[in-house]
Amino acid sequence: MSIARPLLVTGSSGLIGSEVCAYFADRGYTVHGVDNNQRAVFFGPDGDTRWNQKRLEATLRGFRHHELDIRDRVGVLQLIDDLRPAAIVHTAAQPSHDRAAAIPFDDFDTNAGGTLNLLEAVRRFCPESPFVHMSTNKVYGDAPNAILLNEQDTRWDYADSAFEHGIPETFPIDQSTHSLFGASKVAADVLVQEYGRYFGMPTCCLRGGCLTGPHHSGVPLHGFLSYLVKCNVEEREYTVLGYKGKQVRDNIHSYDVAAFVHSFIDSPGRGEVYNIGGGKDNSCSILEAFAIVERYTGKAQRYTYVDTPRVGDHICYYSDLRRMKAHYPRWTITKTLQDTIREIVDSWHRRVAGASQPA
Ligand SMILES: NC(=O)c1ccc[n+]([C@@H]2O[C@H](COP(=O)([O-])OP(=O)(O)OC[C@H]3O[C@@H](n4cnc5c(N)ncnc54)[C@H](O)[C@@H]3O)[C@@H](O)[C@H]2O)c1
Repeated sequence: MSIARPLLVTGSSGLIGSEVCAYFADRGYTVHGVDNNQRAVFFGPDGDTRWNQKRLEATLRGFRHHELDIRDRVGVLQLIDDLRPAAIVHTAAQPSHDRAAAIPFDDFDTNAGGTLNLLEAVRRFCPESPFVHMSTNKVYGDAPNAILLNEQDTRWDYADSAFEHGIPETFPIDQSTHSLFGASKVAADVLVQEYGRYFGMPTCCLRGGCLTGPHHSGVPLHGFLSYLVKCNVEEREYTVLGYKGKQVRDNIHSYDVAAFVHSFIDSPGRGEVYNIGGGKDNSCSILEAFAIVERYTGKAQRYTYVDTPRVGDHICYYSDLRRMKAHYPRWTITKTLQDTIREIVDSWHRRVAGASQPA
């Protein structure tokens, strides 16, 4: 009889964490989730993730929730010493650009300090266990905005053919504006690389574009597609900030992120970095997202336009996925943008209708 290996997932009640928990619970792991519902502290009641924690506890066999703040160094060391996980997937974070400016200590202590706590605990107690860290495309700061663009009817796109496949991992990460969030995530990203390079640990950073799916607690400051759909379903006004609503994001379903995490854990490199997003095929502008959502809900999107972009926001960003695909040729994106948006619409319909748990 095979014994289920322990997997530790931080941020387990969030979008990516919960998807990773569900994915691995079906694949022979005993999943241990760490979350303290800090998202509700960061964003208020709309950011509350307890519903998702309850969903995991009710549906995943053997799932165990640990109410722990990753800033608690002693607690993190103790938990990893106790569990000696076979792999660690670190998704807990203060995830918002704009929110970070109001809470710089909480942002840095969570994103940089929390990541260091985990890395060091893993180095001490289970250094051979793969460590996957959710980083962000905001580590590139606003430098992608310097790429020559062309303006189309509903979106911006790269005019420079060097970026026809999107932004590669070799893109510079410094000497640009990141927001404090981007800066704390750079610190974490470089630490994760360093534990791979200096200590030889099997670590990787996944620099996410727009990660999305039906289990996001979307709020105005984080979770662009989830929040946009929520506004449509509830007939609320969405505020478009700058760039004529033609700013482009590449969207990847959380399931495809979890599948890539699995690929890495099965065959890990050391100190690796991958850009992960929907790529060009799953990219859309805000105006284009409105049109797709309207198709599924039958409701016109209400919105106002403010001609001031977010500080450090990308005008056009999509990930070059060629490095991931070259290293892990069996991994591919399985969910189209349309599939993903339809799932988010269905989920919000259920949540708004008062169903206790989305699918
Ligand atoms: N969603 C995106 O579009 C996106 C894009 C790029 C990168 N990322 C990164 O991916 C990761 C996951 O993002 P997400 O969208 O799932 O975020 P999320 O906010 O949905 O989930 C994060 C979870 O971490 C928990 N958490 C936060 N601080 C904590 C702490 N101190 N201790 C314990 N738990 C804590 C929160 O309560 C939340 O449940 C983050 O690192 C984020 O920066 C996300």
